[in-house]
Amino acid sequence: MVRAERLAAVGQTIATLSHHIKNILQGIRGGSYLIEMGLTDHDETVVGKGWKIVEKNQNKISSLVMDMLTFSKEREPDLSTADLNRVVADVVELMQTRADDLDIELRWYPAEQMPNLVFDPEGIHRAVLNVVTNAIDAASENEGSGRVDVRSEFDADEMLVRITVDDNGPGIPPEQMDDLFSPFVSSKKGRGTGLGLPVSQKILSEHGGRTLVHSEVGRGSRFTLELPGVVPQPSSPTATG
Ligand SMILES: Nc1ncnc2c1ncn2[C@@H]1O[C@H](COP(=O)(O)OP(=O)(O)OP(=O)(O)O)[C@@H](O)[C@H]1O
Ligand SMILES: [Mg+2]
Repeated sequence: MVRAERLAAVGQTIATLSHHIKNILQGIRGGSYLIEMGLTDHDETVVGKGWKIVEKNQNKISSLVMDMLTFSKEREPDLSTADLNRVVADVVELMQTRADDLDIELRWYPAEQMPNLVFDPEGIHRAVLNVVTNAIDAASENEGSGRVDVRSEFDADEMLVRITVDDNGPGIPPEQMDDLFSPFVSSKKGRGTGLGLPVSQKILSEHGGRTLVHSEVGRGSRFTLELPGVVPQPSSPTATG
């Protein structure tokens, strides 16, 4: 019975992933078709349009693979000494175009005091990116006045770092809260895999931190990523690049 259940769960996982990969491939095919048409007609605008679609789907598949890899195994975070404000600023910069496209005001308030700390910069980048992406998706439902605020904060007394992401989207109904961090639970139909939050949560717990949610239906949501502020020892490696 247990074995049958496990097989059913694996089957369900494969079905979900196949569905998403198929959607992405369809996107790539659509984009390639446009490129081909544009090349035949010597129409650079159409080529550009097609290329944009291919690029978007390329990002989707690489993001999906990264989420799957992060989720699939027990790992130690790849620790180095880095500037958390820089990592979060990179995420905000990366998401700016998408926010602009959707007419969302994306604001970033870095902590004034942020010492260099020991954490996994790539992991935290991913964790913040997933939460900011969700906030932008949510804020986009607030047509014309969507807003996302990203803040960092260093609590020297408790030696904690917090990254908060606020949106003025639809909020999360209480009955959805229990399943919010379960893999493959998504309200976004074909557009969401439901791996974003479980991956963020996993990365934070690998750091000895946690992910908190506060949401009010009709007003918006706040996601807080909290992790211990570990100051570098003389032997700690420094992030490069
Ligand atoms: N800021 C938010 N406001 C409202 N609902 C949210 C917010 N963040 C997450 N959710 C809800 O939680 C669900 C799960 O989020 P999660 O990031 O895990 O998956 P996803 O965004 O649907 O897909 P993926 O991140 O894999 O592309 C979302 O589908 C959405 O219903
Ligand atoms: Mg998501």
